[in-house]
Amino acid sequence: MDPLRPPGDNFSPPARLRLDTQALSTNTQRAMSSSAHVAIAGATGAVGQEIIKCLEERDFPVGKLTLLASARSAGRKLRFRDSEIEVRELTQDSFKGVDIALFSAGGSLSLEYAPSAASAGAVVVDNSSAFRMDPEVPLVVPEVNPEAAEARPRGIIANPNCTTIITMMGLYPLHRKFGLKSIIASSYQAVSGSGQAGITELRNQVSALSDDRTDIEKRVYPHQIAFNVIPQVDQFLEGGYTREELKMLNEGRKILGLPGLKVTCTCVRVPVYRSHSVSVTAQFESPASVAEAHSAYHGYPGIRVVDDPGNALYPTPLDTTEKDDCLVGRIREDMVLESALALWIVGDQVKKGAALNAVQIAELL
Ligand code: A2P
Repeated sequence: MDPLRPPGDNFSPPARLRLDTQALSTNTQRAMSSSAHVAIAGATGAVGQEIIKCLEERDFPVGKLTLLASARSAGRKLRFRDSEIEVRELTQDSFKGVDIALFSAGGSLSLEYAPSAASAGAVVVDNSSAFRMDPEVPLVVPEVNPEAAEARPRGIIANPNCTTIITMMGLYPLHRKFGLKSIIASSYQAVSGSGQAGITELRNQVSALSDDRTDIEKRVYPHQIAFNVIPQVDQFLEGGYTREELKMLNEGRKILGLPGLKVTCTCVRVPVYRSHSVSVTAQFESPASVAEAHSAYHGYPGIRVVDDPGNALYPTPLDTTEKDDCLVGRIREDMVLESALALWIVGDQVKKGAALNAVQIAELL
């Protein structure tokens, strides 16, 4: 984990992993061969499709690509580079000879199949929440804690929650400079966070309402999402917080290696197709000025400042849609808390919040 640096310490982006090849597990040695056999479990889903795009865009050294989904999709063909690859049904035997298995088919399927993928010798990068808080499974944002990916006794690396990744991308450069103490956040989360079903629900509701129809179908969300906002993402747990809100607390602490970090969060679903936004007040150990905050982001990979309010320049979800970088703006001193900044962070949660982060983890190997 990144040790807290004293204020004013010169920034340098985290170094890439340096692996001791003597100590490499068989899984790692196979994953590191020059072109890997990659499998995607959940290849037909919103994130699975984005993973295929990211592998292409980043020219990931794929020797062979195995696409896995439910029996419903078996036989369907998906394009990768200049070939069509047939989707196969996900089974316990799907992972023979696979070097890297990228899972994005939901938590219960990860629990069921990721261990067999790891025992077959693959390094699993799991996008679900199934293993994130397992102490033997590293939880990795490559720009923040790449070194955590080194030790993975279960052969599994977890991809954090999408809202947490985007928030960490916006806060980590400030944490390195000022030392993060607490986070008060509200998220504005796009429907694609609920997979293809969320996108379809918003599209159908908008289309029905535009035709003055009253037959609004609600399957994914408990209320109409078109032209509305819903202050609930996932189920309610203890203390009136939702599972999504507690992910920000628990995963944020694990990624930053700050068990005492204080986090309070309200996660809200909004009628946006893609890209999550997060309004954050972050309090720091040392005083933080706006100018120093701007310089903290300078040259940092994966996050850019867009902050010229006089010219109506600040990040919006459309600005990050299908883009790799997260954006941060509206940076100002908080008017309530000491040594605190208010800011607005936006990122494509299908991309950096899921697929791209998973592929970047695979690149660390
Ligand atoms: P399928 O398209 O065959 O249903 P999303 O989150 O966008 O809805 O995507 C979920 C992904 O998980 C899809 O690729 C989906 O495949 C896959 N999936 C769902 N149920 C199963 C299952 N029982 N076995 C394997 N893959 C599954």
